Amino acid sequence: MTQALQQAGIAYREGEPLSRHTTMGVGGAAAVMAFPRSPEELRATLEIRADLQAPHRVLGGGSNLVVADEGLDELVVNTESMRAVTIGEDGRVTAEGGANLIRTVLQTTRAGWRGLESAVGIPGSIGGAAVMNAGAYGFSISDVMTEITVYDEDGQRTEPPEGWRFRYRGSSIPEGAAVASLTAQLERGDTEDLAEETRAIGNRRRATQPGGRNAGCVFKNPPEGHAGRTIDALGLKGRRRGKAVVSPRHANFVVNEGGATAADVLGLIEEVRERVRAATGVELELEVKVWGPRS
Ligand code: EPU
Repeated sequence: MTQALQQAGIAYREGEPLSRHTTMGVGGAAAVMAFPRSPEELRATLEIRADLQAPHRVLGGGSNLVVADEGLDELVVNTESMRAVTIGEDGRVTAEGGANLIRTVLQTTRAGWRGLESAVGIPGSIGGAAVMNAGAYGFSISDVMTEITVYDEDGQRTEPPEGWRFRYRGSSIPEGAAVASLTAQLERGDTEDLAEETRAIGNRRRATQPGGRNAGCVFKNPPEGHAGRTIDALGLKGRRRGKAVVSPRHANFVVNEGGATAADVLGLIEEVRERVRAATGVELELEVKVWGPRS
């Protein structure tokens, strides 16, 4: 694998700790982590992987991810070096999969384009946001998406979003596929209004959600009710395991206070899920992704 990457001129590191690449800050090492710098290099990396039939995962911003302490004996394709964003005169914005979502939002709102502002507080990459159909305050990224280029086992597919069945916090983009780029159509807006709105959204988010090391909301909201409210009502805020704690600010967040292990985080999540199940009969579904050795 490393030989093929080297020959193709694709940057990689061996034994790279995933804790460095996830906002939760836990997780062991990836056997090999590749850093394609462009959609072309991304495609070449995935072709090398397919030729060698090597197991792999695709990493975006690592903001919605808990990686097991034992790490992964796999290739991890890290898209962080593919981050070009272009904004056309007509408000069409195209961002590469590894572009940072918050930076992209600020870039568009500062240029006077409306459409992405609700996403201003959401950490992570454009690619991760697309796969998860990230959103906040009634907005989902698929609302403004006009086109998406995904590389999967079949090669490149550029499609209108309807091809990928976007839904609440999900899509049909398969595990192991990589978002090369996404295009959204934005509308003209007033730069000052947009600055005011993004500030207000940021403040609202800071008032209701914790900062520090976390992976965003742990559970999806069940069809009826709110995961955060349910967990809060059971008095679980502040519940801890090692250095992992249920956020006192928002009960659907687990925060790594520094030095937590994945076992702490996952153990705490399981405990919360069991308590909710026992008290309410509701089976909470994970919103965060968990990467561990495949069984
Ligand atoms: N609530 C509590 N206690 C808590 C947390 C929340 O009582 O500890 C109550 C709130 O008072 C409110 C209700 O629960 O009445 C809902 O809370 P909130 O408005 O914070 O929204 P949420 O449903 O918990 C969702 C998304 C967030 C997104 C916010 C804002 C999911 C799973 N979560 O949270 O997204 O930032 O709305 O739009 O859809 C994420 O995707 O990682 C994420 C955090």
